[in-house]
Amino acid sequence: MHSAIEERIIKPARNVIGALRLPGDKSISHRYGMLAAFAEGTSRFTNFSTGADCASTLKCMQALGATVNKLSDGTIEVTGMGGRVTPSAEALDCGNSGSTMRMISGLLAPQAGTFTLIGDESLSRRPMERIRKPLAEMGARLALTEGHAPIVIEGTPLQSIDFSTPVPSAQVKTCILLAGLQTQGKTTVHESVRTRDHSELALRAFGAELERTLGSVSIQGQQTLHAINAAVPGDLSSAAFFLCAAALFPNSGLVLDWLGLNPTRAALLDVLTALGAHISVLNLEEKNAELVGTVQVTGPTGGMRSTAITGALAAQLIDELPVLAAIAPYTSGGIRIRDAKELRVKESDRIALVAKNLRAMGAEVEEFEDGLDVPGGQTLHGATIDSGGDHRIAMAFSVAALRAEGETLIQGAESAAISFPEFFDLLDQVAER
Ligand code: S3P
Repeated sequence: MHSAIEERIIKPARNVIGALRLPGDKSISHRYGMLAAFAEGTSRFTNFSTGADCASTLKCMQALGATVNKLSDGTIEVTGMGGRVTPSAEALDCGNSGSTMRMISGLLAPQAGTFTLIGDESLSRRPMERIRKPLAEMGARLALTEGHAPIVIEGTPLQSIDFSTPVPSAQVKTCILLAGLQTQGKTTVHESVRTRDHSELALRAFGAELERTLGSVSIQGQQTLHAINAAVPGDLSSAAFFLCAAALFPNSGLVLDWLGLNPTRAALLDVLTALGAHISVLNLEEKNAELVGTVQVTGPTGGMRSTAITGALAAQLIDELPVLAAIAPYTSGGIRIRDAKELRVKESDRIALVAKNLRAMGAEVEEFEDGLDVPGGQTLHGATIDSGGDHRIAMAFSVAALRAEGETLIQGAESAAISFPEFFDLLDQVAER
């Protein structure tokens, strides 16, 4: 369900200072919610993602027979279906969430019954052939609508496979692993770029055995998942907006504690360091195999330098690229982004929208099929930003607005709630004006 279209004015800031603890990671929350709903027993999660995307996952799992309760202290309690879902007469609405749609497809393809998956306008444009192909190789009966949602699944027993993902995608990898979990044999997924490994870590936490090599993961079928209790680490992709905001100001000071620092997600810290920001990581600990810690950031006294994000790095930073591109004009030497064609098939065409909105703020930018060149040393002015209903575009340009001359109007600001409903309040809390 969408809230009303909302506009937000972002005023320039003098500095970014403060300490925050962020809501739980979206990727981990999707997986914990989905696996708990499929497992035996009752799981409890604190600091579960507050984003609408994870609510879509929980709603779908409820429609399939899981019991989900939100306790008075915010804990999410999920009682699982013990490996057998109940087909829902109604279509399963995945909202704006590609993770929900792609991962649930793998879970449902081997189950008995007919399932229809639908999504909002943006999700209904996004490519689904990438999951249909491996699932069909496993024997699944899954029909797309011209390569997109709605997806209709006629559940049927599947065979295990050995599959190499052509596009680096944790969602596709997870989809295959969840289907593989329900076959008789061993399923292996090979990937040329190691994508986020939350599914592997979560499956283990729920009691499944997996084998991992540098470039592959294998799962044996017919394993039973068991409920867990877990605290979800803060979302590093949400933190990215605040870390980049702090990097914009010399002598800023921002502390984020209980932040997820899984190495497959943490490339942003290296990029900010390359740009000259001072970053320290403290209090590292492991929780359900996920790394959690405190991050402190201070912007560089002489301003940010320049960097290039290409190859495997582009895939690992895919969700952080919009905000990095949005702060690039304020660096001295600019940021070059390539090998990021996937940005064109996210919640919006993020390459086109970043270029359009940077230009609206008076920046020079060159657009490529697979990236952007954003020169440094530029002065931006406030403008009207078209978020295209894409949460990460709305938040990225709210950060760029902090260093612009004059006010910026973010259109479609409500979209931030897809991953991060608290974003604007927290930004007000740390932006000194
Ligand atoms: C996600 C994987 C990425 C990412 C998305 C979340 C996940 O998508 O962009 O926001 O939780 O697995 P792809 O799998 O399409 O790369």
